[in-house]
Amino acid sequence: MPVGKRIVVLCSGEGSNLGALLDADLGGRIVAVLVDREGAGAARRAREAGIPALVVRPGDHADRADWDAAVVDAVATAAPDLVVLAGFMRVLGVVFVRRFPTLNVHPSLLPAFPGAHAVAEALAHGVKLTGCTVHYVVEEVDAGPIAAQEAVPVHPGDTPDSLHGRIREVEHRLLPHVVALHCRDRLRVRGRIVQELHP
Ligand code: GRF
Repeated sequence: MPVGKRIVVLCSGEGSNLGALLDADLGGRIVAVLVDREGAGAARRAREAGIPALVVRPGDHADRADWDAAVVDAVATAAPDLVVLAGFMRVLGVVFVRRFPTLNVHPSLLPAFPGAHAVAEALAHGVKLTGCTVHYVVEEVDAGPIAAQEAVPVHPGDTPDSLHGRIREVEHRLLPHVVALHCRDRLRVRGRIVQELHP
């Protein structure tokens, strides 16, 4: 029986998106999780699911280039067909981005509010609608071809936490959906345009 695509997931935080991926039928399997700090909830979730959690901390490396190389080596060991950034809060080096097809989930409607503070910045800007984006990763941060987006309304009285909570609920559906499409070879990327192919 075919085992499908090999997926490596990179996380920095709680790992709720990793949990959603672990619960989904992806047409592939998560063979390793990499975190950039000990204590990330994502590492615990991975280990509980019987998946190796690799810890590659910047503080354990001499400089940025050394950490970049260690991340490439660790991920390459798992021989992934696809890498998924599920709340990975560091910018990956050019070698990584060119080597591994990679999807990222971002908590705004890109190209609005790229970067690490997307939810707070959307709220501070006063937008009435924000959301989440799943996109392919390119060298420029949060700028790659967009595979899927879904809007989330901002409610009066929202805080960054309340708004991020509702965005996460959407991410937990949208990210596994896009990963499954990729794993089933149903996404075609031409320049900036990601097209969904229907069987
Ligand atoms: C998600 O909202 C993701 O979009 C952002 O970081 C958050 C990670 O949450 N980049 P979790 O660790 O998956 O719970």
